[in-house]
Amino acid sequence: MRTQVAIIGAGPAGLALAALLHVAGIESVVLEDRSRDYVEARIRAGVLEQGTVELLERAGVAERLHREGIVHGGIHLQFDGERHHVPMAELTGGRSIVIYGQTEVVKDLIAERLGQGLALFFEVADVDLDGFDGDSPSVRFEHDGARHRIECDVIAGCDGFHGVCRPAISKTLRTFERAYPYAWLGILADAAPSSDELVYAHHPRGFALLSLRSPTRSRLYIQCSPDEDIGDWPDERIWEELGLRTELTGWSLNEGQVLEKGVTGMRSFVAEPMQHGRLYLAGDAAHIVPPTGAKGLNLALHDVRVLADALIAHFCDHDDARLAAYSSDCLRRVWRAEHFSWWMTSMLHKAPNADPFEERLQLSQLRYLTTSEAAARSLAENYVGLQRI
Ligand code: FAD
Ligand code: PHB
Repeated sequence: MRTQVAIIGAGPAGLALAALLHVAGIESVVLEDRSRDYVEARIRAGVLEQGTVELLERAGVAERLHREGIVHGGIHLQFDGERHHVPMAELTGGRSIVIYGQTEVVKDLIAERLGQGLALFFEVADVDLDGFDGDSPSVRFEHDGARHRIECDVIAGCDGFHGVCRPAISKTLRTFERAYPYAWLGILADAAPSSDELVYAHHPRGFALLSLRSPTRSRLYIQCSPDEDIGDWPDERIWEELGLRTELTGWSLNEGQVLEKGVTGMRSFVAEPMQHGRLYLAGDAAHIVPPTGAKGLNLALHDVRVLADALIAHFCDHDDARLAAYSSDCLRRVWRAEHFSWWMTSMLHKAPNADPFEERLQLSQLRYLTTSEAAARSLAENYVGLQRI
């Protein structure tokens, strides 16, 4: 096989890159080691920045997103038994976020790609990269019991945090990492959302978040320990804990059947530079943020926009300047999102053996955000996605 861009990974980054390249007339092959059913069922992020929505429009996959996505103009911050609204759209000249599950984004991208008869292989194994140091990169892999080889001009490593692309260049990378002493227990529930907008709650028992997927589906999280055994959390215990951490006079939490539950660890991670030779890393393959800032998916799609534009300049205009600058162009936004996500996480979670001094600082910061317009605007412009950085 021969193609222009071999894309490893059919998560949001790999699939969106393939779609943007196709719109520009550039060929690619996408390789995914999981099954289509698995990839389409994996529940992850749910908040899309306006810039992400615009990118999906450009990729030609925003029709259902516009029909079913729910536009939100603010969030609530809850602490000290009070709930405060942060009017993000008002504070950012009308920018908003859209609630639409990552699962749905992935389904739309896969349907579009397969509908156009374009190359996307699921359940590949033993993916092996070669030649990206020189002029003739290639990717070998197994599919349906046979060994295959793709010759290409460029390899895009969109294979997430546990993929093979970053390890292939680990000797050339500098990495930065922070582990957190807590995790999130998340559920998807057949229950109408209890709040008109997301609620981020600071509570002496630990953080809680009320989010949603549709007018009848809630997505809810509580802070737990990183080695939490989900078996210790029957549904009644989860509802009770959510209720305690988000309790408010005159308001109640809608409960319903729990459709899915799981524990997600938290990590901050950046690998620099995000490129070596003709291999370019994008999304979680290069960086991870804790989910409190709702940035992981948005950052992955920002990388993809920069990479698609650089590849278009390379293939269509024979201009390599943007490819050379790919990593530095991405890392400015990556580090801003790393800081924002770390800051939101540190402000809202209860540290094990919490120091009362730190807890007072958290509450002071939350009070400042809900009383100072300047502080609220800073949160808002980061949350909806900075336009220039
Ligand atoms: P991924 O979505 O990880 O996609 C990578 C793809 O590559 C996967 O399909 C994988 O199967 C495939 N792959 C891996 N190795 C190989 C290989 N060797 N060969 C071929 N294919 C391979 N972000 C938020 O903003 N909010 C959230 O609530 C949130 N929740 C999350 C929950 C979990 C459990 C996880 C893991 C992440 C969560 N994130 C969240 C982060 C967000 O989902 C990611 O930032 C986003 O998925 C990044 O997209 P990606 O395409 O870069 O990587
Ligand atoms: C979600 O809906 O899954 C979600 C929302 C906001 C976050 C993280 C996750 O900060």
